[in-house]
Amino acid sequence: MLTVALPKGRIAEETLEIFTSIFGEEFKFDDRKLILQTPNFKFLLVRNQDVATYVFHQAADIGVVGLDTLEEEGLDVIRLLDLKRGVCRVAIGMRKGEKLDLSKPELKVATKMINITKRYFAERAVAADIIKLYGSIELAPLVGLADMIVDIVETGSTMEQNGLEVVETIMSSSTYLIANKNSYFEKKSEILDIFEKISSLIE
Ligand code: PRP
Repeated sequence: MLTVALPKGRIAEETLEIFTSIFGEEFKFDDRKLILQTPNFKFLLVRNQDVATYVFHQAADIGVVGLDTLEEEGLDVIRLLDLKRGVCRVAIGMRKGEKLDLSKPELKVATKMINITKRYFAERAVAADIIKLYGSIELAPLVGLADMIVDIVETGSTMEQNGLEVVETIMSSSTYLIANKNSYFEKKSEILDIFEKISSLIE
């Protein structure tokens, strides 16, 4: 029996479709239920930012989560497989025409990805003032809350429609299959079986 943590929404649906095509049975959560128990799997529906937490504490053996979220949380889990879905990047955005000048004093940066942002500026020995937001990050430079943002860019249309542009890409991201370290040893054959089946499906 493997416990699988999935992030609510599109990634959970896509992952359940992958399991359905591998095992030929339908995997579907009932209405508002957060656990889906089948003979071989227990699926958990959690918030995207919580997937790695469930896996790290071994409340789930494996999980599916974006690399950006994994980097942001910094929890020690095994990155088993790039599922090549949910492709996006974490980038610095500024108002169109503005240039990224790291030598400027007191840079103000708005983001929901505090740790990735801190790391980026620390590695460049830049003292940035990082402002935590929970969403609609693109608004911040438009109203003078920040000089720039660090945010997820998928199609680029949110930045485009708000008069912003990418001035630097910090990292590329896509969804990953992750595993708890102990589970990986305790349930190696089950996990490797899933790993192989998913790998051959996504190729
Ligand atoms: C994400 C991200 C950008 C947008 C990028 O927001 O924070 O705002 O998607 O996508 P695009 O490049 O295709 O336009 P999300 O939908 O998660 O909402 P939030 O920022 O308000 O949380």
